[in-house]
Amino acid sequence: MAEPLLPELDSYTWQKPLYRETFLQLLRTMISKEELQKQIPFAFGETHFPKLGEKYRGKVRDVYSHGGQLILITTDRVSAFDRILTTMPFKGQVLNELAAFWFEKLKGIIANHIIDVPDANVMVVRKVEIVPIEIVVRGYLTGSAWRDYSGGRTISGIRLPPGMRKDQHFPQPLVTPSTKSQHGHDMPISAEQIIEQGTVSRQLMEKIEKTALALYKKGVEVCAKHGLILVDTKYEFGLAGNDLVLADEVHTPDSSRFWYADTYQKLFEEGNDQRMIDKEYLRQWLIREKNFIGDGPLPDIPDEIRIEFARRYIEAIEQITGKPFTAKVGEVLPRIEQNLKKRGYL
Ligand SMILES: Nc1ncnc2c1ncn2[C@@H]1O[C@H](COP(=O)(O)OP(=O)(O)OP(=O)(O)O)[C@@H](O)[C@H]1O
Ligand SMILES: [Mg+2]
Repeated sequence: MAEPLLPELDSYTWQKPLYRETFLQLLRTMISKEELQKQIPFAFGETHFPKLGEKYRGKVRDVYSHGGQLILITTDRVSAFDRILTTMPFKGQVLNELAAFWFEKLKGIIANHIIDVPDANVMVVRKVEIVPIEIVVRGYLTGSAWRDYSGGRTISGIRLPPGMRKDQHFPQPLVTPSTKSQHGHDMPISAEQIIEQGTVSRQLMEKIEKTALALYKKGVEVCAKHGLILVDTKYEFGLAGNDLVLADEVHTPDSSRFWYADTYQKLFEEGNDQRMIDKEYLRQWLIREKNFIGDGPLPDIPDEIRIEFARRYIEAIEQITGKPFTAKVGEVLPRIEQNLKKRGYL
């Protein structure tokens, strides 16, 4: 008798994480490098739907004002060091679908802005007054926090003990806000400064910090079940009347760092870099190969890097959700248009 292509799992076996993960791994060969290569000419950096409403172009999303609602179309644009560099196949779909997954998982903690997801790349949301502070939560001493620590042990006004090492786990996660700058780079700011400046009241700031920590805790738990560490992440909150609402995107590889849990301890002890699936891959390539940290002319990014980057983003969504990512090679914009028409937005 021929071997079955995929093992049959009874419900008992399915309950066991190891078997379940192995089974899902087998399913996860759905998008090949060849398909990603074929999708490159269809990776899109621009949308043009004047009938949707007035358009604001973020670094990654095209935001259309549609009455009291916003239509967020997540494009395939890639930004690093606050510059838009190129596009990556299926990136917009990965981000939009993963954000939708997380908003659903987190809705017991805080209301979110989602009204409708009419297409894999589109989210219709409640327009809220965005609190103009990026709320960063960190579980580990890495990235810009590590650089700030090396320069004086203080991160967003929080003084840390001496002798900590790169990538070390904090006993308690830290909330390290930064300004949401229109031009140039975001700067760390302390909760006290935010309150003193009158940007946010003390009461609201406390609520935001508490909520952000609860969201991060839940994110850490969900990721841990799937073999990942949610290292740090950024939230954007908004106000709808008196209600605090989670807006923008959440726990995506654009807004968060993810490391593989199984190799964390060993790599940390050896002083080596962590295995990661997030935008850091591209940042490090840009620094190493192009000496690029955001200034000067835009570097050329070869297809093979765009494909590898896309592969990692797909790995991230599959690993986090435990489900295969499905997408079809081909044009994306006509599908978006069709779906928007179907739901009456166009
Ligand atoms: N529910 C919402 N109401 C109002 N604005 C929102 C909402 N959700 C997200 N936004 C804003 O929409 C934009 C999303 O676009 P994108 O993520 O591409 O922007 P960005 O480049 O990260 O940020 P920015 O454009 O502010 O520099 C952001 O400016 C974000 O603050
Ligand atoms: Mg953004």
